Amino acid sequence: MNSSDLANSLCSPVLSSIPQLDPPVRLGVMASWSGSNFEAIAQAICDRRLNAQIQVVIYNNPEAKVVERAKRFDVPAVLLNHRDFESREALDRAIVKTLKHHNIEWLVMAGWMRIVTPVLLNAFPSRVLNIHPSLLPSFKGNRAVEQALAAGVKITGCTVHLVVPEVDSGEIIMQAAVPVLPSDTAETLQNRIHIQEHVIYPCAIALAAHNREGESKDE
Ligand code: GRF
Repeated sequence: MNSSDLANSLCSPVLSSIPQLDPPVRLGVMASWSGSNFEAIAQAICDRRLNAQIQVVIYNNPEAKVVERAKRFDVPAVLLNHRDFESREALDRAIVKTLKHHNIEWLVMAGWMRIVTPVLLNAFPSRVLNIHPSLLPSFKGNRAVEQALAAGVKITGCTVHLVVPEVDSGEIIMQAAVPVLPSDTAETLQNRIHIQEHVIYPCAIALAAHNREGESKDE
């Protein structure tokens, strides 16, 4: 993607190119259902737009479609069903164990519909990303697209941010704007937001990892 593609899709920051990571960054992905963002990231890696490897996908619903997508990209998928755990912390301990076993550096939440706890966040400090279907800090929490429609905003979008204990509140890495059309339903608007999510997530991963590398060198 070049800078004019990014500008055309109203993404910010506008980058002249996706930062090239060397060596490739090792990712873990967590997804609860469809996993279209997982696929966008996996495809960006295949297309050599993102220098990364997805070591493992963790999913929590046995029927999640992300499993089929993971198979297609030859990525191991591990089911950790939240119903099998007595608390959020117990689930997060199992997640951390799995992610450590797969030796991941960055954790990418892509439609993970569970609140995560410090057990998970402290295991990967400032290295957990999430994507949310609104221009944060507007419309945090569930049903962000419906919230935007109800508020009557004319532009909404999506945000990739670092995850902190407070929901949808960490440092913003990248955003894309999506106009709200008079004819929009939650479904049509969600579909257009999804398209932008797929554009910015691979780029935001590279940007976040690149920034972090720079910070570690300065330390
Ligand atoms: C996306 O809209 C994302 O913003 C939200 O969950 C949805 C996941 O979609 N956090 P998918 O499973 O990646 O298709």
